[in-house]
Amino acid sequence: MRWLWQGLTTSVGTKFLMALTGMFLFLFTVAHMVGNLQVFAGPDQLNAYAAGLKKLGPLLWVMRLGLLATFVAHILCAFSLVKRNEEARPVQYAVKRPIAATYASRTMIMSGLIVLAFVVYHLAHFTLGWTHGDHFALRDAQGRHDVYRMVVLGFQSPFVALSYVVAMVFLGLHLSHGAASLFQSMGWNRKKYSCFFAGAARGLAMLVVLGNLAMPLSILFRLVGQEVTP
Ligand code: HEM
Repeated sequence: MRWLWQGLTTSVGTKFLMALTGMFLFLFTVAHMVGNLQVFAGPDQLNAYAAGLKKLGPLLWVMRLGLLATFVAHILCAFSLVKRNEEARPVQYAVKRPIAATYASRTMIMSGLIVLAFVVYHLAHFTLGWTHGDHFALRDAQGRHDVYRMVVLGFQSPFVALSYVVAMVFLGLHLSHGAASLFQSMGWNRKKYSCFFAGAARGLAMLVVLGNLAMPLSILFRLVGQEVTP
C-alpha cells in the first residue's frame, strides 16, 4: 500500500488521481441528469424513480459514500496541485502574462469553487431539506417522497431557478476544460482517436449542461408543472 500512496502523492500521481476522480464525477453528472430528466415524464415517473433509489438501502449508502470520497479526493488533489505550483514558483512574476494553460487552470479553480458551493446548496435543498423544509416534507398519494412537487416548487422561484442556471454555466466550463485536461493527464492525447474522444467528452459536457438547464427553465416559464401550486 505504501508504494501506492507514494505513487499517488507525486505530481504525476496526483494529476492521475484528479483525472480519475474527475472522470467518475463526470459520469455521475451524466447519470444524475438522465435520472432527473424524468421530471418531463410527470410526477408518477419521477417519484417512482426516487423511491426506487431509496429501496437500494445499504447499496445506496455505499454509492453515496463512494461519491463523497471521490468528491473529497478530487478537491484535495486540486489543492495539492495548486500548492505545488505555488511552491515551484515562490517569487511571483512581475508582470502576469496569462497564457493558455494558466487561463484554463484559473478557470478550473474558479468554476470548481462555484460548483462546490452549488453542490452544498443543492444538497441542503433537495437531499437534506434544510432550505425548503415544507417542500421536502411533501408526500404523494401513494405516500412516497413527492420529489416532483419538491423540484417544481423549488424552480418556480426565480431566485432558485436562476441560481441553478448560473451554476450550470460554470459546471459546463468546468466539465469541458476538465474533459480536455483529462485526456492529457491520462496520456490519451497521443493516441490515434484521442481527438475524437476529447470532442465527444466536450459534447457530453454540453449535453449535461443543456439537460440541467432545461429543468429549471421549463419549470420557471411554466412549461412543466404548471398544475403545482404552493
Ligand atoms: C437541474 C439540475 C439538477 C436537478 C433537477 C437535480 C435534482 C436532484 C434531486 C431531486 C435530488 C434528491 C434525490 C432524492 O433525494 O430522491 C438530487 C440529489 C443530488 N444531486 Fe442533483 N440535481 C441537479 C443537478 C446536480 C448537479 C449538477 C450535481 C453535481 C454537480 C448534483 C449532485 C447531486 C448529489 C450529490 C445529490 C445527492 C444524491 C444522494 O442523495 O444520494 N445535482 N438532485
